[in-house]
Amino acid sequence: MRGVFITFEGGDGAGKTTQMRLLAEAVKRAGGDAVVVREPGGTPVGEAIRAVLLGPEHGRIAPVAELFLFPASRAHLTEEVIRPALDAGRVVLCDRYADSTTAYQGYGRGLDLEFVRRVNEAATGGLVPDLTIVLDVEPREGVAAASAGGPDRLERESAEFHERVRAGYAAIAAADPARVRVVPRGEVDEVWREIVRLAAPVLERAGLRIDGAVR
Ligand SMILES: Nc1ncnc2c1ncn2[C@@H]1O[C@H](COP(=O)(O)OP(=O)(O)OP(=O)(O)O)[C@@H](O)[C@H]1O
Ligand SMILES: [Mg+2]
Repeated sequence: MRGVFITFEGGDGAGKTTQMRLLAEAVKRAGGDAVVVREPGGTPVGEAIRAVLLGPEHGRIAPVAELFLFPASRAHLTEEVIRPALDAGRVVLCDRYADSTTAYQGYGRGLDLEFVRRVNEAATGGLVPDLTIVLDVEPREGVAAASAGGPDRLERESAEFHERVRAGYAAIAAADPARVRVVPRGEVDEVWREIVRLAAPVLERAGLRIDGAVR
């Protein structure tokens, strides 16, 4: 049986890492096998691409170069890690995926959305998550919460950029409501309860019954 592919999206500091850790633990308690990866990164090649993309010392990167670099990491991660894990029946939790490129390079940078869609399709080979959870956050609140060690190259973007990204996620969810669900900001356990509500039926199809304990 094919595994389950769940991606987490949202602005910086929205709480993706926090909620993914809770979900990975719930999957393990249910007897499942969770693989947790992040984008860009998740492989040695991907982490090298990540260092190029997020290093503040790199300043401006031409928008189209940025558009190709994120999916370059994604293509490698998809082929090397995500597809093999899904083929082995595992649960893959991915911190950002193709929707980040649509939100940041499409809506944030203003690159042509149809072009972005084609680049994403090439990078993923058409692999689409079973469920995408967008954690909504006020950009100011998120950027303040993000990144111990100082803001990365994208976190340094303007408030207007982060507002366009947020609006982009809302548009992505509106266009694909069966897959993409926006979870409003709240206390960690409130957000977690909503994620359990959304993820439980998807994991149930793979025979996994998760509980909502917060450990
Ligand atoms: N619902 C929440 N309410 C308030 N603070 C939160 C919430 N969720 C997470 N935090 C805190 O906000 C900070 C960022 O959370 P986390 O690292 O999970 O976000 P992220 O989306 O993974 O961020 P990044 O973009 O830096 O990867 C952490 O200090 C975390 O403890
Ligand atoms: Mg994180």
